[in-house]
Formats: sequence, C-alpha cells, structure tokens
Amino acid sequence: MRRIVIAGNWKMYKTQAEAMEFLQGFVPHLDETPDDREIVLCAPFTALGSLSQSLHGSRVRLGAQNVHWEKAGAYTGEIAAPMLTEIGVRYVIVGHSERRQYFGETDETVNLRLKAAQAHGLVPILCVGETKQQRDANETESVIFNQIDRGLVDIDQSNLVIAYEPIWAIGTGDTCESVEANRVIGLIRKQLSNPDVPIQYGGSVKPDNIDEIMAQPEIDGALVGGASLQPDSFARIVNFH
Ligand code: PGA
Repeated sequence: MRRIVIAGNWKMYKTQAEAMEFLQGFVPHLDETPDDREIVLCAPFTALGSLSQSLHGSRVRLGAQNVHWEKAGAYTGEIAAPMLTEIGVRYVIVGHSERRQYFGETDETVNLRLKAAQAHGLVPILCVGETKQQRDANETESVIFNQIDRGLVDIDQSNLVIAYEPIWAIGTGDTCESVEANRVIGLIRKQLSNPDVPIQYGGSVKPDNIDEIMAQPEIDGALVGGASLQPDSFARIVNFH
C-alpha cells in the first residue's frame, strides 16, 4: 500500500510568530482530515523549534528544506541532520529546483544529502523535474531519469518520498495537466526498485485543482508551495476529496 503524503513547502517565508499564527488557523481543520494521509510542514529552520513544541502530540509532521551530508563541521550556513532530529524533524526536502538553480546543488550533492538524511532517520523528499526548455526539446524523460538514477545511488528506497515538480509549473499558476503529471510519475515509478515509494506532484497545487490531481492513480500526494502559506488554503488541500 502506498502512503499519501501532503507536504507544505514554506520556502523562505514565515517568522516564528507567523508560523504560530498559521497553526491557530490550520490545526482546527485537521479534525476533518481522513487518517489515510500524512501531513508535513517544511518550515524555515528558525521556525522548526517552536513548531515542534506546538505540534507535539499532533498528527502534523515537521520537515526541513535542506540538510548537509556531514554530521558536524566547518560548513558555514549549512545545517546537520542531528540538529534537525533533535527537535523532532522527520522529513527533509532534498534537491528542490530552487536549490539546484540558485545554490549550485547537483545530482552528486543531492545524493550525499539523501544518504545523510537516511543515516539519521529522516525521510528525504527528493525533488526532480524538467525546465520548460527541456520539455519543449522532448527531454523530459531523460532529464528526470538522470536525476533519479544519479540521485538514488545507494539510497534505501523503503525510506523515501519523491516529488515530481516540473520547474515551469512552480510558482507560475501554470499547473501541469493532471493526466500528464500522472504519466510522468508512472514512468518515474518504473525506474524504481521499490514501486511503493510515495511520489508526489508539485507545481502550482491549489485548493481548486487538488481533487483532480489526487484522483490520478499514480499520484500519491502533493508538495505545495504558495498555497501552503495560508491556513484555509492548505487545510482545503490536505482535506482533498
Ligand atoms: P508552488 O511551489 O506550489 O508555489 O508552485 C511548489 C514547490 O516549489 O515545491
């Protein structure tokens, strides 16, 4: 049985105070959330500590947005897995396209980060996806297969989530057609040794398209950026029909 995982990616948004305010609006909606789905909030590092305290005993899991491959060291500006697990973080996004595009993340560093996450008991959410240019050049499949093959060297596929996020759909309002997202996710699944890895779709997921996305047979969840910032909007997404 594949798990359903709905994760919010807050990116570089929300102070601690704003994160607390979000919870006040969001948590009451979880009374209606069916048990079949895992809810994850991937918050900035500075908000994780207070979120962890406030969410203690709740069904919401916490995620970080990056993790370094060493457990400590002279790596100014990075964060180590034990710093995350100590405060109750369970998930970590690895290889988001914004990290690849703006911060020099490569398939090799993605692979190192995935290994470190797993070694410390975190569940990594590996992000893959093609640019508009690559899609137009019919390279979607080769780009994604490369990201998967190189990223997953020596990775345990029993402790992993993958997010298919076409880059042209991120933050643009230009969602990938759900049938097409379903097709690509099906192809990704065929590349895996464990077909039960939950594979999410990400890219302009909104309250008004989540039901259609989740109705697709290959899609096991969503990674949600902009629409995870407002409590009502993210609540409608996690409570998809
Ligand atoms: P978006 O971002 O939902 O704002 O398109 C998704 C993501 O970057 O994970």
